[in-house]
Amino acid sequence: MDKLAIIGGRPLYGEIPISGAKNSALKVMVASLLTDKPLTLTNVPRLADVEMLLRLLEQHGVEVDFEGSTLKLHGRTITSTEAPYDLVRKMRASFNVLGPLLAREGKAKVSLPGGCAIGARPVDLHLKALTAMGAAIELDEGYVIAEAPKGLHGAEVTFPFVSVGATEHAMLAAVLADGETVLKNAAREPEITDLAECLNAMGAKVSDAGTSTIKIEGVAQLNTAQHAVLPDRIETGAYAMAVGATGGELTLKGARSDLLGAAWSVLEEAGLTIEDVDGGVRVKRNGNPVKAVDIVTQPFPGFPTDLQAQFMALMVTANGVSRIKETIFENRFMHAPELSRMGANISVDGQTATVRGVKRLKGAPVMATDLRASMSLVIAGLAAEGQTMINRVYHLDRGFERLEEKLANCGALIERVRE
Ligand code: UD1
Repeated sequence: MDKLAIIGGRPLYGEIPISGAKNSALKVMVASLLTDKPLTLTNVPRLADVEMLLRLLEQHGVEVDFEGSTLKLHGRTITSTEAPYDLVRKMRASFNVLGPLLAREGKAKVSLPGGCAIGARPVDLHLKALTAMGAAIELDEGYVIAEAPKGLHGAEVTFPFVSVGATEHAMLAAVLADGETVLKNAAREPEITDLAECLNAMGAKVSDAGTSTIKIEGVAQLNTAQHAVLPDRIETGAYAMAVGATGGELTLKGARSDLLGAAWSVLEEAGLTIEDVDGGVRVKRNGNPVKAVDIVTQPFPGFPTDLQAQFMALMVTANGVSRIKETIFENRFMHAPELSRMGANISVDGQTATVRGVKRLKGAPVMATDLRASMSLVIAGLAAEGQTMINRVYHLDRGFERLEEKLANCGALIERVRE
């Protein structure tokens, strides 16, 4: 298993190109199942999660042509409506093939994704939405078996709490349903708006995406389209936090500050200087250590749970005490004991972590436990004195494109150790 070796203590200076958003790419790729016409996606990141979903789409019959960051998908004929356990369990976003297969073919059998390191992560809201649209759903031996022989119909669905995945899944199914679907208490993340733009480019009629009530007027078929995936706001925020932790100045090329929601003002409060520049965003921290800031993770536009771990890595050397409350996932502080091994002072009580800033961290061998937690260890390693060796780097490969190269180009001493 590969490891990452980092010698910390060097400020970051230079430019980092921000990739297309993983969490958006995975959803717009699934839209290729909705039509027998080609879908061309640009700005697609080359990540392990993207590759994994491609294998699943191919298994359903989608033809794949991936060159550079341009991905051509052609779901000419659906050859299988079954998504097996082995392909779904490794990545939860795969579960979203259920709705499109059901909408196009009238049936699907998709493995339940199961839990993961950050919590149980059920899919009840996904199933609630599809059931409201007329799907008959049974659970059998770990699989969801769904049928809609007469097609799906429009429905009003009120989500009891905000779910990004369930909102996207319902949108993906409703575009081909008969009549109007209204999704209430829908997620408002930028990736939802991106999916709506892609679907509308294909001929769907989705309106008000980005608000908490989304309306979808079903159409009989979708067409060929081209769509550029929006920049990754989590990658953007993570590199901004890295420069906050090390000092220096980075220009994040292709980044959009409007996608960061509350995270932007939190970073400014912590003492970073952030400005929009031509073609991206510039972030810097000169001199003073960052200030401790309290955060609570919330659905967009609140502070994103996907930046919570990286923010903790920034707070461990902040001036003062920071309280970090995680409200989205039940078990998302696994980075805390790893950061403590590097000298951080963190105590976790239920959903709240209290971080007392220390002067500096010391490099140590640490273990990555999930994607965003791994990035927090990278940030800590970049700021720490001496060498940090991060084990289980495959988590990072799932979600951060060319991480070592991007950081090394800005002065970081970071190297992959292949084993
Ligand atoms: C997506 C993102 C993930 C991010 C999360 C929250 C992708 C591929 N992943 O995950 O990176 O951290 O949004 O911004 O886009 N829940 C249920 N029942 C359901 C669905 C969700 O109880 O049917 C719960 C989850 O366990 C979690 C909460 O709702 O506690 C929010 O999850 P959700 O917004 O659905 O996250 P994902 O779409 O899985």
